[in-house]
Amino acid sequence: MSILSIKNLSVQLEDKKILSGINLELLRGKIHCLMGPNGSGKSTLAQVLMGHPGYLTTSGQISILGRNLEEKATDERARLGMFLAFQNPVAVPGVSVANLLRMALGQNHNGKGRSKHNPALNLVSSVNEKILAVSRKLEMPREFLNRGLNEEFSGGEKKKLEMLQALILSPRVAIFDEIDTGLDVDALRIVAHGISLLKKAGCSILLITHYQRILKFAKPDYVHILIKGKLVSSGSFILARKIEKSGYREWLSP
Ligand SMILES: Nc1ncnc2c1ncn2[C@@H]1O[C@H](COP(=O)(O)OP(=O)(O)OP(=O)(O)O)[C@@H](O)[C@H]1O
Ligand SMILES: [Mg+2]
Repeated sequence: MSILSIKNLSVQLEDKKILSGINLELLRGKIHCLMGPNGSGKSTLAQVLMGHPGYLTTSGQISILGRNLEEKATDERARLGMFLAFQNPVAVPGVSVANLLRMALGQNHNGKGRSKHNPALNLVSSVNEKILAVSRKLEMPREFLNRGLNEEFSGGEKKKLEMLQALILSPRVAIFDEIDTGLDVDALRIVAHGISLLKKAGCSILLITHYQRILKFAKPDYVHILIKGKLVSSGSFILARKIEKSGYREWLSP
């Protein structure tokens, strides 16, 4: 079942064309891996899906469960169940990880208005328990939760924080932009386990990566190749293996 549908999407930045005629259906409970050379437009696609206002969509349509996302701001998209883990997560000093998660959980598509309609203490404590349980799963020290979001966290710790947010919010569509970059081998396994948990919960996953490493632990159902802003090929896990071996030569014109 298709959760996110991208039809004929073309995007430019000032007068530079970055994405051309992208067609992609992200399916429920499936891992879609997106690969492509540096600068091919992967992060741009992720940002555009989340409604980044800096890009100009010149054609096409994005919809989640049949609802057109055009004109929908990033926060509305998040409430509809979209989540993006950034390639370079930004620090938000003064906003603790725990506070952000509590606020977001009260607003998202699973818990819309919950905190407003039921501000009972037991709800707050069950949210806290959930946050603690997930942070334990990610082998994350408890003190992380009280620190400012991404403030002075190491590269790998920031990536784990992105996964913590995804698991707490349990989105319909989760986009991970190079979540595997900078992770040590244990962290990689933990983060990949997080992806598998999301998949099991029915989340549709877009996993942007350069490497096969993470795919061994979180095996993709589909692999898509983006070259110079165009989707040139889609296939199975075998496609990722082929790229690891021979790169993107076959799709790059001399
Ligand atoms: N704000 C910007 N100003 C100018 N050029 C930009 C901007 N954002 C993106 N680009 C350009 O758009 C193209 C696509 O960039 P994007 O970050 O989407 O690539 P990517 O596939 O994610 O690359 P990587 O694998 O290195 O992360 C690049 O040529 C990049 O330089
Ligand atoms: Mg990128």
